[in-house]
Amino acid sequence: MVAIRVARPDDVVAVGALTAEAYLADGLIADEDDYAAELRDAQRRADEAVLLVAMAPTPDGREAVVGTITVAPYGSSYAEIAEPGEVELRMLAVAPEARHHGVAVQLMRAAQREALARDARRLVLSTLDAMAAAQRLYDRLGFVREPERDWGHEVVHLRVYTWAPPEAPGALVEAATWPAARTVVTADGWRAGLSGGFTRRANSALPSGRPADLGGALARVEAVYAAAGLPPTVRVGSGAPAGLGEHLSAHRYAERARTDVLVRAAGEVGPAAPGPGWSGHTHVADEPDDAWLRAFLGVKNGVDHADVARAVLTGAPAQYLTATSGGETVGTLRVAFAEQWAALSCLAVSPDARRHGLGRTLTRHGLALAARHGASRVFLQVEAANAAAAALYAQLGFVVADGYAYLVREDG
Ligand SMILES: CC(C)(COP(=O)(O)OP(=O)(O)OC[C@H]1O[C@@H](n2cnc3c(N)ncnc32)[C@H](O)[C@@H]1OP(=O)(O)O)[C@@H](O)C(=O)NCCC(=O)NCCS
Repeated sequence: MVAIRVARPDDVVAVGALTAEAYLADGLIADEDDYAAELRDAQRRADEAVLLVAMAPTPDGREAVVGTITVAPYGSSYAEIAEPGEVELRMLAVAPEARHHGVAVQLMRAAQREALARDARRLVLSTLDAMAAAQRLYDRLGFVREPERDWGHEVVHLRVYTWAPPEAPGALVEAATWPAARTVVTADGWRAGLSGGFTRRANSALPSGRPADLGGALARVEAVYAAAGLPPTVRVGSGAPAGLGEHLSAHRYAERARTDVLVRAAGEVGPAAPGPGWSGHTHVADEPDDAWLRAFLGVKNGVDHADVARAVLTGAPAQYLTATSGGETVGTLRVAFAEQWAALSCLAVSPDARRHGLGRTLTRHGLALAARHGASRVFLQVEAANAAAAALYAQLGFVVADGYAYLVREDG
C-alpha cells in the first residue's frame, strides 16, 4: 500500500529522477531534450506548485518515492492552460516497476482532493497523443476530452482533459443523515455537535459564515466542548471560512481524519449476491437491533457507545441492512435519507468474513434500496487512508465530489 503526501525537501532529488525515468522508459522524451531537464527539476515544482509523492515501504523498513504528480493552481508558473477557477495537473509519473498497482489512481485522487480543498471548479490537464495508458485512466476517473482546448507547439500535439466535481450533498445534508444527539448553535452560527464522543462526525463543529473575529468564534465553540468534557473538534471543508485551517493549525489543532465524500446515482449495479465463498443471507429493518449495533460497533471498537450510537443513528430516517451467516451477524450497512440523497454509512464486515464480496454485496443492496426509497443520488464518507473501502467504492462507480478534515485541539 502506498501513502500519498506533499513532497519533503529530502524527496525532491528522487522525485526529479523518477519523473524523467518514467517518461524516458515510455520513449516519450529523449535524454538530451530540454524537457528531460525540466522533469528532473522537482525543486522548482515544490517551490512554485504543490508537488505530491506516492511513497511505498521498502524491504529495509524505509520508504521510497514510486510516483508523483504536480498540482498547479491557476496563476502558478506551472499552469500552462488553466483558466481562473481551474487547477492544472502536470507531470504524472509512476516508476516503471511500481505500475499496475493503482498508484496513479491514488495520485489522481489526491490531486482531486487538493483541488477540492482549494474550491477549484475544474481540473485540467494536457496529455500527449502517445500517452494511451494515462488516457484510459483519465476516462475511468470521469475526466472528459475537451478537443477545442487542445494545443501544441512544433510537432507536439497535446490533448486536453477536464474534470469538474459532481454535485455534492453539502455539510448540512450530511449532518441531517448523521445528526448529533445535541447541537449547540453559537452566536456565530457555528453548529457544535455533542454526542458523548460517539464519532467525530457527531462531535464536531460545523463552521459557517465569514466571522471577522475567527479567534472569538473559535473560543465560543471551545467553551461548548469544554463544558461537555469533549476535545474541541472542527470540520474544515469546502466553504469553510477563509484561513480557518491555518488559524487552527497555529492554535494547537492537528488534522485527524482527511475524508472524501463520494457520490454516484442510486439504483441497481450488478448482481446483489456475494461471491461463492460466502453462504448466508441479508435482510432489511427499520431499526438497528442489538446484534446489528454490536456487529457495527465491534468493528469500530466502540462497544461502550451503544446507547448514544442508537440515538445518533435513529435520529434520521434510515434502513438497516444485516448480513448473517450461521446465525451470526457478520455485516452491517445503514442507508439514511435526506432530500434527494441517500447516505450509506456503517459498512462493516467482521474480520473473519472479509474478502468474500460481502462488503460489495451490502453496498449494492444499499444502492438498490436507495432507489426504491426515491433517492436519486447516493453519497458516503470514507477516510482517505482507508484504501480497502476506497477500492470497493471505486469498483462500484463512486467518484469524489467533496472532502473535509477534522481538526482536533491536541490538548483538548
Ligand atoms: C471495507 C470492508 C467493509 C470490506 O469488506 P469485504 O467484505 O472484505 O469487501 P469485499 O470482499 O466485498 O471486497 C470488495 C472489493 O473491495 C476491495 N477490498 C476489500 N478489502 C480490501 C483490502 N483489504 N485491500 C485492498 N482492497 C480491498 C477490493 O477491490 C475488493 O474486490 P476484489 O475482492 O474483487 O479484489 C471491510 O474491510 C471492513 O469492514 N472494514 C472496516 C470498516 C470500514 O472500513 N468500513 C468502511 C467505512 S467507509
